[in-house]
Amino acid sequence: MRFVHGSFVVAAMAGAVGLAVACGGATPPPEAGGTEPAPAETAAPEEPKPEEAKPEEAKPEEKKPEEPAKAAWKDMNDEQKKEHMKSVVVPKLGALLKEFDGKKFADVNCGTCHGPGAKEGKFKMPNAKLPKLDRTNGFAKHLKKHEKITKFMMEKVTGEMAAALGVPAFNPETKEGFGCGGCHVVEGK
Ligand code: HEC
Ligand code: HEC
Repeated sequence: MRFVHGSFVVAAMAGAVGLAVACGGATPPPEAGGTEPAPAETAAPEEPKPEEAKPEEAKPEEKKPEEPAKAAWKDMNDEQKKEHMKSVVVPKLGALLKEFDGKKFADVNCGTCHGPGAKEGKFKMPNAKLPKLDRTNGFAKHLKKHEKITKFMMEKVTGEMAAALGVPAFNPETKEGFGCGGCHVVEGK
């Protein structure tokens, strides 16, 4: 891990402030706690949760094993990506797709989005085995033929998928961000 000296100090200070806030109130933070892990070690400036935070004891212990400062999607290696897909994407998008159509999406797994190649460890996106899309006139063709699912894809799936990846959703003005083309091959103008 590399730190520019200055920003490390800021991060450490932010951490300290976060701690002070989290522990604030009834018990003053023990200055020389002994059992406290050094805040600098985990680096990431933990924002104090705005909701009624559970009291001090539960928090640091509980969090550690589960959240080893999760990497951003783009920084994940293959193993981490697979793990993220399994633990976040499949449950989240699986629930969404099932809610839309419990029959069609009865069993959401890697192959639902990645196609049959998933079984051989092929996860490249977009997946050419998904229906190809024609984006002409705002996907008019698809809206005409399959209005319900097309709207669902536009209003729910794309945004939820972007959120699950922690990346910005497609912005029509800048034409950047995660959109239909993150899963489907998209053609047309
Ligand atoms: C709801 C759809 C969906 C499901 C289900 C899903 N994925 Fe993905 N996966 C994606 C999308 C979309 C991307 C591309 C993200 C991006 O834009 O970088 C992706 C990317 C990946 C990548 C990275 C591919 C690369 O070229 O870097 C891997 C590996 C992966 N998925 C594995 C899995 C595994 C393993 C499962 C099952 C446990 C799974 N995925 C289930 C949508 C899905
Ligand atoms: C996370 C991946 C993902 C994203 C993002 C996504 N889709 Fe889909 N889409 C799917 C899956 C999975 C199916 C079901 C494919 C099947 O029938 O097996 C599907 C099906 C469809 C269908 C049905 C096609 C048919 O012939 O039955 C349309 C239309 C569609 N998507 C349009 C869109 C549009 C438009 C967007 C962008 C607004 C979009 N999709 C974004 C995964 C995605």
